Formats: sequence, C-alpha cells, structure tokens
Amino acid sequence: MTHILAIDQGTTSTRAIIFDEGLRVQAVAQEEFAQIYPAPGWVEHDPEVIWQTVLSTVRGALAKAGLAASDIAALGITNQRETTVVWDRATGEAIHNAIVWQDRRTAETCASLRASGHEPRITDKTGLLLDPYFSATKVAWLLDNVPGAREKALRGELAFGTIDSFLIWRLTGGQRHVTDATNAARTLLYDIGANAWDSEICALLNIPMSLLPEVKDCADDFGATDAALFGAEIPILGVAGDQQAATVGQACFTPGMLKSTYGTGCFALLNTGGERVASQNRLLTTIAYRLNGETTYALEGSIFIAGAVVQWLRDGLKIIAQASETQPLAEQAEAAQGLVMVPAFTGLGAPYWNPDCRGAIFGLTRNSGPAEFARAALESVGLQTRDLLEAMRADWGTAAEGVLRVDGGMVSSDWTMQFLADILGAPVDRPVVTETTALGAAYLAGLQAGICPPPAEFAESWALETRFTPQMPRGERNAKYARWQRAVQAAMAV
Ligand code: G3P
Repeated sequence: MTHILAIDQGTTSTRAIIFDEGLRVQAVAQEEFAQIYPAPGWVEHDPEVIWQTVLSTVRGALAKAGLAASDIAALGITNQRETTVVWDRATGEAIHNAIVWQDRRTAETCASLRASGHEPRITDKTGLLLDPYFSATKVAWLLDNVPGAREKALRGELAFGTIDSFLIWRLTGGQRHVTDATNAARTLLYDIGANAWDSEICALLNIPMSLLPEVKDCADDFGATDAALFGAEIPILGVAGDQQAATVGQACFTPGMLKSTYGTGCFALLNTGGERVASQNRLLTTIAYRLNGETTYALEGSIFIAGAVVQWLRDGLKIIAQASETQPLAEQAEAAQGLVMVPAFTGLGAPYWNPDCRGAIFGLTRNSGPAEFARAALESVGLQTRDLLEAMRADWGTAAEGVLRVDGGMVSSDWTMQFLADILGAPVDRPVVTETTALGAAYLAGLQAGICPPPAEFAESWALETRFTPQMPRGERNAKYARWQRAVQAAMAV
C-alpha cells in the first residue's frame, strides 16, 4: 500500500496517474471529453461525462499498472478551477451542465455589480476581481435560470461545488460535501484572510450558504472512495486546484518562487508566503496552499488562452494536424513580417480583465501564411506571460525578478521556451518532470498518508532539465513588447 493515485480533471481531458512511493510515474490513463458551446462566449461540460472519464481513467491506470485499489494508499485530486456544478443532494445529479471557467455569460452581472461599487470590498475579502471567470456569478445564474432551482436551494436540497467537490461527492457515494482552501479561494465567495465563506457576498449574490461545501486543508481527510467503485476503498487525502497543485509540484515553497503552467490557458503563481499581497496591477491574490491550517498566499496572473491557440491552429484554421507541428512551422516564418496575434477568444484575463475583447491579428501582408500565424500564436504566449511578469515585478519588486519554472504541454517546445526567456529577459527553467500538476496532487495525498517527506525535503528532489537564458538584444525585446502592448490596446478598442 505505497502507491499514490492522482486524478487530474482538466479543462479538456481527465487523467489518472499512478505514482510509486518515490513519486515516480507508474501508469497514466487519459481521456478527452466534449466541450459544449451553447452560445457565443458560453462554455459548458457535461458532469456525467466528466464522472465517467474519472471512473474509466482510474480503472485504466490501475489495470496498466497491474495494481488493485487495495494497493493504493492515497488518492489526490486536482482539477480545473472555478468550473461550477450544482447538484441535487438526494440524487447526486447535476441540475445543469457545469459552467466552465472560460464562460462569459455573467459578464453583465459582473459589470453591474462593479458599477454599483461592490468590487473593492469583494477584492479585499476574496483577492479576486469581479469577472465572470469565477464561480459565484455562475452559481447565481444557475439558481436564477434553472426552473425550480432557487426553491430547491432554499429548502437545502442542492449542493454547489467546483469539480473537486463534485467528484468527491460522487466518489464517496454522497458521504462528503467538501472542498479544499485553494478551490474555495476561486469561487469569489471565500474570504481568504478569515478562511471562511463570506455571508455578505453570499447575500449580495443571493446564494444560500447551505449550498456551500466544508473547506479543508490541501492535505487532509476528504473521505474514502466507495468500495463498490474500484473494488476497495481508497482514502482521499489531497486536493488542490490544478494551478496550485502545479505550484506544489514545482516545489515553489519559498516566497519569491514563481511557476507558470501552459495548459489550455497559462497561469503564473508567485509564492508570497504568509503575506497577502494586494495587487496594484490587476493580478489576483489567492491561496497557494494551506497545510496544517497555515495559509501560504500567491499572486496569480491568469491568461485564458495559451495551448488553446495551438488547438485553434489545428481545429479551427486546420494549418497543422497536430500540436507538435507548430514549432517547425513557426521556425519557417519570415521574422521580418512581425505579425502580432492577440488571442482574446474568450476575452482577456490578467492584467486587462476585459470579457468583451475578442481576438485580433495585426501586420498581415500578402506573404503572411501558416508559418507566420504559427509563429505569432507561439509568441502570443510569451508576450502574455511578459504582461504578467511586468505586473508581478510592479507588485512585488525585485523578489519577482528571479527564475520562472515552467510546466504543461507547451513547454516541450524549445523554440517557445527560448522566446519566453527572450521576451521576459529572465531565465526559464524546465524541470525533468513536467507532470507537475498530478505530481503536486499526489504529493499532497502522500504527505497526509505519511508516505512523502515534508515540503523542504520534497523540494530537494526537484530537478532541472533545461535552463533557457535570454539571448534577444534588449532593444529588440522592448520594441517587440511595445508593439504587443499597442496591439492589445487596439484589439480592446474595436
Ligand atoms: O483557472 C482555470 C484553470 O484551473 C484551468 O486549467 O490546465 O485545465 O487549463 P487547465
């Protein structure tokens, strides 16, 4: 009983990964699932489909590893954050599709709350901004728009949770309605200083507090899986939102350490220790992790489109057949063309927070083709990261000048990582293990199970694969970044 199972329930796929006691990957099972776009700017997932992918990937990973559930000492869960599910406590069935973090349907609600002057107080408590990205206005939308939902909620018959909470409910056969502090911190309903749900914000948004789960540490007892699901009970001992799990997996345990994960979007988290830094530059203040009741905070920059721009080249423009073709194509581009792509497909996140902005491409000529588009797409990821680092530097001074640890699917592209280092003017470190999200969840569960060492010792096992150092002349870097800033302003003005 020394193996650890991690479930990584992401935006486009679900993965189950089995680690041995030394946190080495033993088996992986992955399944993609459908994205549902009911209207422009709306994004949903079917919670039943997500649940089925969890069951089948866990069973698949166990089979691949040649293990039984009874061989697993601990389960860690990590998940796409903010995505909102409301379900019936009696049946366990969701009352509506999950509303995904990218969904913009509550933009007007957020704008009117902002116009009424509520944002400063909400930011003060939650560390977040009034943006449709977060769960709260999605919950309110469900209660207002699903027939009978509000009445049921008032009778205490409904439960709300982010994906971790929904999965734990299902995994424990409806025994536990819980979440962890990092996921709670993304709802816009949680006071990250008081470490409690906030009754004032709940009242403002007309959300009954009976809907809310109990909030636990990231390494804690979250119940056990129903033995009927996998053949034996598995204790659920670790939970963290995927970006926070990656922060743990990257061993960013010291204030000033910074990681950036390139999945569907890109999320940079800067550990600020026990200090809750209030951003003056439109970054989020969030919980990096909570262990033994002690909260470590982070400044977060959230970009909605990173890997998704490559998906768009593949599925929308169809100029590549698979993601790995992007780098060779970008390398063929005529650099002098200098196309700038602003991939604001679902609005802009940090530091602009403009839900209405849409994508744009500047500098087209008759010679612009697939190669130039591919290059501009990859460069947009680095340029957006530079926006985040500029804001972090302004908020946190020289402590944020250090190295950026990177992970996620896109970091396998050397070209993209070199451009990132060039445009940031800072070193970029790619670790040996880039499965940091699942690793972080497994570590949290293993820590609680007593299998994994304390954070400082775990941090020593972090190993560098490649350091990318800036090569681009300063003048070129600054000119490129200035052009990007003008492009973003132009896209927002349209
Ligand atoms: O905040 C959204 C984030 O948690 C989604 O992450 O990796 O599923 O794109 P990812």
